[in-house]
Amino acid sequence: MRSIMKQTQTKRIVLGLTGGIAAYKTAELARLLVKQNVDVQVAMTEAACRFITPATMQALSGRPVLVNQWDATENSMAHISASRAADAIVIAPATADFIAKLALGLAGDLLSTLCLARDCPLLVAPAMNKQMWENPATQRNIAQLIADGVTILGPACGVQACGEEGMGRMLEAEELARDILAFFQPKLLSGVKVLLTAGPTYEAIDAVRGITNRSSGKMGYAVAQAALELGADVILISGPTALSKPQGAQVEDVTSAAEMFDAVKQHVADADIFIGVAAVADYRAAQVSEQKIKKGEGKLTLELTPNPDILAYVAGLPKPPFCVGFAAESENLREYAEAKRRAKKIPLLAANLAQQAIGSDANELILFDDAGEHVLPHSDKLTLARALLRHAVKLYQQGKQQ
Ligand code: CTP
Repeated sequence: MRSIMKQTQTKRIVLGLTGGIAAYKTAELARLLVKQNVDVQVAMTEAACRFITPATMQALSGRPVLVNQWDATENSMAHISASRAADAIVIAPATADFIAKLALGLAGDLLSTLCLARDCPLLVAPAMNKQMWENPATQRNIAQLIADGVTILGPACGVQACGEEGMGRMLEAEELARDILAFFQPKLLSGVKVLLTAGPTYEAIDAVRGITNRSSGKMGYAVAQAALELGADVILISGPTALSKPQGAQVEDVTSAAEMFDAVKQHVADADIFIGVAAVADYRAAQVSEQKIKKGEGKLTLELTPNPDILAYVAGLPKPPFCVGFAAESENLREYAEAKRRAKKIPLLAANLAQQAIGSDANELILFDDAGEHVLPHSDKLTLARALLRHAVKLYQQGKQQ
């Protein structure tokens, strides 16, 4: 048994703050990035220092903050050296004023000089009042930045610090951390179509009752997100969940196993990879009552009939996509999982203990393939999903070469 959970190579970013109220979110962003093993060098404009102190950013990033280009105690060549060492510069928040400077190539302070002197990608998270965002001047500047190859993160729509509502709010720290990490993923699945099922299914008994399970959909959505990060075209067939849709995926909402099966059949011919993460109900009510069943005196017997096995159907197609299954077991994990993989004839199966996995944000997975088993140690579901996909991509590419 060996662990295939590689520590992602450390990435270095310069995190630039300009003077907007959203700067408080950047403190959390710095914390999240450091937690994800990103080396963060903070640089702030004078205006940013009025919203949040360099001391806060220094404590969270673990490095002295670059502020003043004339300060002799700082590296006199900081505008060159900081960007040379970086894999990317991220400006969050980016004010309308700073965006205008970037569009024009101005270099009047340390942060803008750093951006102009960079030889690495630039990511910009705008944060401003909606009128400022909608102003043709800002839109012109944003279009210019996009044309210059700059990546724009957000902004989002919502209630703003000024009390108005509309476009211009900076993305939340978690969304920015996700987008920044996604930016660094190698696009191994570019042009590859990935079809996924996720979440529980709901099998109606009558007008108001049904059979379902405690699957939250978090693992399936994390796998969809990880596939998107690798550049895949993702179709996600989702049972009922409370999760927000992964941006960039084509999502089809379904309720029952039969609906999920129909949706999969509709898309499977185009799929290169199929990943069955959904906790599909194995049985449904043999007869669904249109009206609510009334309470009676004695016992009530419910007759159940088996649902189609979607994964087994896909794996059994004459020309199946590369199939990945999941197994949730409550005991004898290794034995049951490997038996399931062989029975369904799938090259890769990810198994977990149902009582640990369901509904939680973190998990532990064991992958089973022809070579044996591979442990993905306990971590958050997105980290697990990324490691699972790295393994799946390797097997998928080996399969294509044969
Ligand atoms: N699966 C499916 N369709 C079903 C049942 C399961 O596509 N009707 C898929 C799941 O998405 C998962 C895998 O099969 O990828 C295993 O699901 P699981 O419920 O753990 O196994 P079952 O085959 O249903 O067996 P059991 O419930 O007896 O453990």
